[in-house]
Amino acid sequence: MNARGTGRAAVVCGLGTCVPPYALTNEELSGLVDTSDAWIRSRTGIGRRHIADASTATSDLAVEAGGRALKSAAATGDRGVDAVIVATTTPDHPCPATAPLVTTRLGLGTVPAFDVAAVCTGFLYGLAAGSGLIAAGTARRVLVIGAETFSRILDPADRSSRAIFGDGAGAVVLRAGEPDEPGALGPFDLGSDGSGSDLITVRTGGSRHPYPTAGDGADPYFRMNGKAVFRNAVERMTESSRRVLARTGWPGACPDLVVAHQANLRILHAVADRIGVDRADCFVNLDRVGNTAAASIPLALGDAHGSGALTAGRRVLLTAFGGGLTWGACTVTWPDIQPA
Ligand code: UT7
Repeated sequence: MNARGTGRAAVVCGLGTCVPPYALTNEELSGLVDTSDAWIRSRTGIGRRHIADASTATSDLAVEAGGRALKSAAATGDRGVDAVIVATTTPDHPCPATAPLVTTRLGLGTVPAFDVAAVCTGFLYGLAAGSGLIAAGTARRVLVIGAETFSRILDPADRSSRAIFGDGAGAVVLRAGEPDEPGALGPFDLGSDGSGSDLITVRTGGSRHPYPTAGDGADPYFRMNGKAVFRNAVERMTESSRRVLARTGWPGACPDLVVAHQANLRILHAVADRIGVDRADCFVNLDRVGNTAAASIPLALGDAHGSGALTAGRRVLLTAFGGGLTWGACTVTWPDIQPA
């Protein structure tokens, strides 16, 4: 085995999370749009979601979560990073990317920094990109952040999306290591299908329908075809999970814990049933944070650690699905780290 930090596998060595303080409950939301706690809980499993105040942007949440992940990594002797990746659907601005600003605010110098746009699959894509930088020898340590202020792009009148989405951020530090050590990210399975690009959209503000020429009918808001997305999410996460589990080589091709993108409790259960995992082994925190898109998986990892579900040595399957369409899965045997 090589000395610590010289291998080419990407090993998780730090974890940090952050949600804005204010949580909007289903009861409160019922006073703002025509919905009810009973409808939201029975159709999605969500009980509340955190919403950033007007002065908080995605980079603010990213800096907080990223700083905590760096602190967590430093506790095990891993200080500094050579690259920063921010996965987000809600960057501070359409241009430039959010990652360079986050990097500077974290005092990480002039290391390469870029955003990944794969909506709810963004964090998994970011992990894969970070692993690639390490495998290529371009970086020895990478900070991967998933951060969203999704509430900013929701139509205030859209009861469906307001019931689901929330704000937050989570981050991990990856370091170079060996493929057989705890924390090493296992095989990745990633995919996309642009024929479904109209199912999850923010149509205006890009080159197809630019502001201000988009006209009075321009729709600045996030839109989702919930039913079609639901079907695709179950199908794609199931297939991707099966492929990655077949390649990981765990006994019975079975994880101890599934930490999936927190889209909808019914989706989580459908995927668990299809891949043959007990529903109780599918971690759930969407009841408390809703769907936080690119922040969803790292936030769930943090909460899973906090609840005792995620402990060192457990075999964990990560899987996500999002706009694009995009999807992915990855496996990891959880390392002995303390999230900050
Ligand atoms: O993160 C990326 C991936 N995203 C997802 O995976 C989300 C996938 N989709 C879903 O989770 C679900 O499709 C939703 C939760 C978005 C919607 O649930 P659904 O069971 O598919 O409901 P629906 O859209 O078919 O709507 C059923 C009814 C409609 O009323 P009518 O037309 O039957 O009278 C909706 O208007 O439920 C109504 N409805 C609501 N009622 C009360 C939709 N949202 C709400 C609401 N409160 N918040």
